[in-house]
Amino acid sequence: MGQTGAGPSAIEQAYRKHFAASAKLFEKAQQLIPGGITHDIRHTLPFPPYIERGRGARKWSVEGHDLIDYWVGHGALFLGHLHPAVVTAVKAQMDRGTHLGGCHPLEVRWAELVTELVPSAERVRFTQSGTEATQLALRLARAATAKEKVVKFEGHFHGWHDYATVGVKPPYKAPVSRGVPAEALEQMLLCPPNDLEAVRRVLEARRDVAAVLLEAGGGASGTIPTDPAFLKGLRELTAARGVLLIFDEVITGFRYAPGGAQEYYGVTPDLTTLAKILAGGLPGGAVAGRGDVMDLLAFRDDSTWNRHQRVAHAGTFNANPVCAVAGIATLELIADGQAQRRANQLGGALRAGLNGAAERVGADLRVYGESSCYNIFLEPGRLGVDVNGKTGRRDHTALQTYPNIPLYHALRCAVLLHGVDLPLPHGWLSAVHTEQELEQTIAAFEKALRMMQEEGCFA
Ligand SMILES: Cc1ncc(COP(=O)(O)O)c(C=O)c1O
Repeated sequence: MGQTGAGPSAIEQAYRKHFAASAKLFEKAQQLIPGGITHDIRHTLPFPPYIERGRGARKWSVEGHDLIDYWVGHGALFLGHLHPAVVTAVKAQMDRGTHLGGCHPLEVRWAELVTELVPSAERVRFTQSGTEATQLALRLARAATAKEKVVKFEGHFHGWHDYATVGVKPPYKAPVSRGVPAEALEQMLLCPPNDLEAVRRVLEARRDVAAVLLEAGGGASGTIPTDPAFLKGLRELTAARGVLLIFDEVITGFRYAPGGAQEYYGVTPDLTTLAKILAGGLPGGAVAGRGDVMDLLAFRDDSTWNRHQRVAHAGTFNANPVCAVAGIATLELIADGQAQRRANQLGGALRAGLNGAAERVGADLRVYGESSCYNIFLEPGRLGVDVNGKTGRRDHTALQTYPNIPLYHALRCAVLLHGVDLPLPHGWLSAVHTEQELEQTIAAFEKALRMMQEEGCFA
């Protein structure tokens, strides 16, 4: 969540005691690793729990606490921790080599699966992460159109490269990071999400737009829900003007449906970025899309093309064989859509269950989201924010403004004390969470809210 502040004292004291070994590790980590963490989203007050191992939808902290997990590999472990098919495939590959220094049959099978599942994917190029995928997609779009600007939406997240730092959090005019050159920021044209007229105005006023990039499932993993009519409108608008439409499906790919949000909403982009579930819980990403655009990466029998016109792309660990086998095992298992149907149904049940718990306690919070994702907004009543309604223009700035950050940290700690690791403000289910684990989660959430209520956290 990114700010500092102390959680309410009784919860914090209990948390410090319960996760005492984690506290010690964090103390040491802070001397070795800046801020003690290796991803900004893991910033937790007063300190994060340290995790030793996972299995299925559960994981265990260094203190031995059994936790129901809603991080599930930052959304990558759609089949949960250590799915037997993934483990078997990875173990077998470890005996064959972790990097084969060349092309290998696994990358061909992996790409084949992506093209079979993802509607827009005529060809696939593997990268090492989702960040690299969005960076490469922008390069491809610029090369394909010979234009430079990219329309991006307020609140949408595309990783951490320079172009992706634009317009991520309110105030949207300020990049989320220092150290980004002004020239990179100037390449991105910001529009409010779900606002087709704003995009139309930009495309009518300018002739230098290469692409429109967005999280198809809504900004910040659905914190700003997508209006499906907006996706359809964008498709028509961009197609009519020769501007490429790029869906960032790093979260939604293979999750919303086997073919991701583009299958779920029935809108096919020109390019798609993938990661997370793609590589079955190991590192990996990809750009997939229209053959004519993707083939800008291909060498030709033409030295001028190869040296001056081709799109260059390298990466030591692209299509790493260990990641490839984990990805293949996962995609083969989720190809028929059964896992997604189950996870989507569990997602609805979890959101309803958590809202029910909040209502019973009288806590001012709202859980919403789509598919197997949840978003939790604290104090919608006090702040006058309406998170409901499936479509239309909601106040996205309000949905991304967290005036009381310590309250989110307190909730995370209180839930952890009751055996659930619920990332905030959003997280994900796997297809292997059980109904019983859901019930335990809802009961734990209710207890955590009562604890917060007793401390007067909710006005
Ligand atoms: C929508 C979206 N795009 C891109 C990324 C970046 O992916 P990675 O963390 O693999 O670099 C993320 C990561 O969470 C994401 O949610």
